[in-house]
Amino acid sequence: MSGRVVRVTQPDGLLVWMVRGYDSVRALLNDPSLSSDTRAAGSKGLLSDLPPDLREVLALDLFSNDPPTHTELRRLLTPAFTAHQARELRPMMREVAHELLDACEGRPVVDLVADYADRLPTAVLCTLIGIPREDGPMIRHWADTFVSQPVEPGGVRPQMITALITYARALVKRRRAGQDSGDLLSRLLRSGLDDDHIVALVLDLVIAGQTAPAQLIAKSMRLLLASPAQLALVRADPSLLPGAIDECLRLDPPLKISIFRRATRPLMVEGVHIQAGEIVSFSFQDANRDDTCFADPERFDVRRTDNQHLGFGYGIHRCVGANLGKVATETAIEVLLERFPVIELVGSPEDLPWKETAIMHKLVALPLRLARRPVTATR
Ligand code: HEM
Repeated sequence: MSGRVVRVTQPDGLLVWMVRGYDSVRALLNDPSLSSDTRAAGSKGLLSDLPPDLREVLALDLFSNDPPTHTELRRLLTPAFTAHQARELRPMMREVAHELLDACEGRPVVDLVADYADRLPTAVLCTLIGIPREDGPMIRHWADTFVSQPVEPGGVRPQMITALITYARALVKRRRAGQDSGDLLSRLLRSGLDDDHIVALVLDLVIAGQTAPAQLIAKSMRLLLASPAQLALVRADPSLLPGAIDECLRLDPPLKISIFRRATRPLMVEGVHIQAGEIVSFSFQDANRDDTCFADPERFDVRRTDNQHLGFGYGIHRCVGANLGKVATETAIEVLLERFPVIELVGSPEDLPWKETAIMHKLVALPLRLARRPVTATR
């Protein structure tokens, strides 16, 4: 890999050190001298186009805080995100997957992104937090706008965040006045946190918990379709599915880079001097293809062993929803494969629409033909 630490300029002019080598990414994501509180540097990357009052609310969240505040907030969330909790939600996920595929049945072309991948994580998130299912399309639209639009002053994102904060505040107020429903929001309301902190955590989950898993479902299916032999392996032995999803997280992670960090002391990384106060980000995309850590890194291998990919990040900010997101993706692909023995891409792989955003290389649509049985067999 040439340039394991490179300097990139953000659209707002901010200079960012991008760390790309696997070992350095892991070491620095565990280094307390990199702070997630980047407000002092005058920019927060994804948040740089937002007015100060909105940034103040978002600054109370997990992404923007260091220990001990981060540790305390995260402790409130982790019981809802264990592997066990994720497995408990599997029957609900299967039901939603079937519901969505019922609506696709018989259509000549299905867009796996819009018709399936985007919708399943939203339904899961609504159940988990305790958001009415009918509000799903609205919160999905807000979250998607937040992570998918280019970060530019005067863009549409500030309106979306205002709407989302207003929505979350009303939800918290309504739920304070109502009964304990046993969901995550009820647990947060009982925790003693004030409303602004709860709103910030709800925002984190709404923003982080929809587009990333949706992209993981869509991108995983794209990778499997591009490698028919690998897809055949998974169809023949569904126990390979969890490993296959890890391989998708390695080769095409939904988040291509991390949220920004700020160096709190001078650092020497791979021969490069980083000054105190400078901004650092991490390329999960590049680190996951580092040939010093992954044999034959460009090869898609659903049976790859010891796959320590960084698709969920690393260290104290490693994705809190990793178990949930993985189980949701496994379930989505599992139900799709069970139901349709024939899944074909409509059109050429080169024509698939992609969008580059601040943190994502986003698959915009995946047009598929789904059939219950091979066409030749029915003739
Ligand atoms: C399945 C696909 C997902 C992927 C690929 C993904 C990826 C990531 C990554 C790479 C990070 C670390 C970012 C950094 O260090 O800068 C992260 C953090 C986070 N993710 Fe996920 N995520 C996924 C699903 C979810 C879900 C389903 C939720 C919640 C419902 C969620 C909530 C969060 C939160 C709250 C954080 C911040 C954690 C912290 O700062 O302590 N994610 N995610």
